[in-house]
Amino acid sequence: MYADVLIIGSGVAALQLAKKLRRDLNVIIITKSAVENGNSYMAQGGIAAALGINDHPSKHYMDTLEAGRFHNDFDAVLALTNEAPSLINSLFEDGCMFDRDSNGFLALGREGAHTENRIVHGGGDATGKTVIDFMLSKKYENIRIIENMHVFDLLINESDGRCIGAKGKDTNGNINRFFSDHVVLATGGCGQLYEFTSNAETVTGDGIALAYRAGAKIVDMEFIQFHPTLLYKDGKALGLVSEAVRGEGGSLVTDEGKPIMEGIHPQGDLAPRHVVSQTIYNLLKEEKSVFLDISPIENFKSRFPTITDICEQNEVNISLGRIPVSPGSHFLMGGIKTDLLGRSSIPGLYAIGEAACTGIHGANRLASNSLLEGLFFGKKLAEWINEQPACEFSKKDPSPESGGMSPSPEYLPSITEIKANMMKHAGIIRTKEGLLKQLAWLESFQIEKWVAAEFDDLSQDEITRACMLIAAWLVTDSALKRTESRGGHFRQDFPFENNHEWLRKSIIQCRKIEK
Ligand code: SIN
Repeated sequence: MYADVLIIGSGVAALQLAKKLRRDLNVIIITKSAVENGNSYMAQGGIAAALGINDHPSKHYMDTLEAGRFHNDFDAVLALTNEAPSLINSLFEDGCMFDRDSNGFLALGREGAHTENRIVHGGGDATGKTVIDFMLSKKYENIRIIENMHVFDLLINESDGRCIGAKGKDTNGNINRFFSDHVVLATGGCGQLYEFTSNAETVTGDGIALAYRAGAKIVDMEFIQFHPTLLYKDGKALGLVSEAVRGEGGSLVTDEGKPIMEGIHPQGDLAPRHVVSQTIYNLLKEEKSVFLDISPIENFKSRFPTITDICEQNEVNISLGRIPVSPGSHFLMGGIKTDLLGRSSIPGLYAIGEAACTGIHGANRLASNSLLEGLFFGKKLAEWINEQPACEFSKKDPSPESGGMSPSPEYLPSITEIKANMMKHAGIIRTKEGLLKQLAWLESFQIEKWVAAEFDDLSQDEITRACMLIAAWLVTDSALKRTESRGGHFRQDFPFENNHEWLRKSIIQCRKIEK
């Protein structure tokens, strides 16, 4: 099958790109499950933009850098925060139903590490669903969406190293080849590497592993954001409880009702996420319980219908005024290294959204900057592709594929083992000993062979486990190399930022491919 633009993944970045591409371009979106089963669709909080009367993009810019611990690409942040208001206004004017205040203006909520109310939301706490449903309601003849197609390899032309397509497996195990001049990875991050996560089941690091296997540069993989508040019951994390709850007056307390964030950070309950997550994690390790006290919030059910549903489904009675919480993996700040247009280090291959690392988020993403990133880079990449002459690289005969032999799938760990070990050794609080142990464990599965292996004969479950193994190795290896703490990366043995050695220095990983 041929497309002018092939987009792998179907979240907000993918749909924004497809929507903004020229109508004469033939676009195929392939997604591994259904469009609704991704992280964008589940996003609760909202989209950040400096729209309030006292707000200004420069304040949003500073908040983004502060949360990112100045590891950010300053130019990228400047462009993003300047364009945020017009991205929101254009969606709103097109008819996207964001929530309004009693005067009919966009209602602006507050989240952690923001110094102003600037979170635009929809359906109370169903912002992702509001935006995606709106985007899908517009039909374009040039865009085709193929669901339940699991992409497991990129096609690279050996003569010039250009990416010319991808291979995917359908639910019957049939292999489909897609050729395209522009191949875009919008596959999200790798939240499912961890036992506790807010992420959709589909988010298993596939795009990162595919790009690494193909020889693309991968960067900043040690920076994983742990969201402080996932619903926690019977030792399991059961879904996100948005930070917007704390923005509306909720606070974190112990079993005895003692506030846990007092004296920890000037922003208290709305401190940056890594600070709040580490505080809760330490209390849970001491076998204490932590609750979100929601009693000050009037109309909780109507403001937070999604969270109310999650609690009801899990038999947590919100009328008692408190929700038990624990932190869990939420967002990958690193990913496939791209420039500010979304171009990766491989010609013809692009990455947008969480799969990409543009430098926007630095060492820790500011709340509600992720849907924004998707909208911004989807548009930027579309504008660039729209100006390219038809190149038809991919219509040339591709080089013969030369994947290595697969080791036996017996050499793959189970998903449960990967998640438990990553949580324990490469999670919220890391140490050299734990990371070395985790690296040795991951490498005992012949990781180099899996990086080079042919995946054609693997089942979908085996492909997922192989991709998770590679993504877990990239996170662990980077976390071991970064001998400081910054944002989402906390090393107990190096507990402070080391600006002398590490400020704005990145760990880049790239597979060496023998020619
Ligand atoms: C939340 O609603 O707390 C998550 C929002 C985000 O991660 O940006």
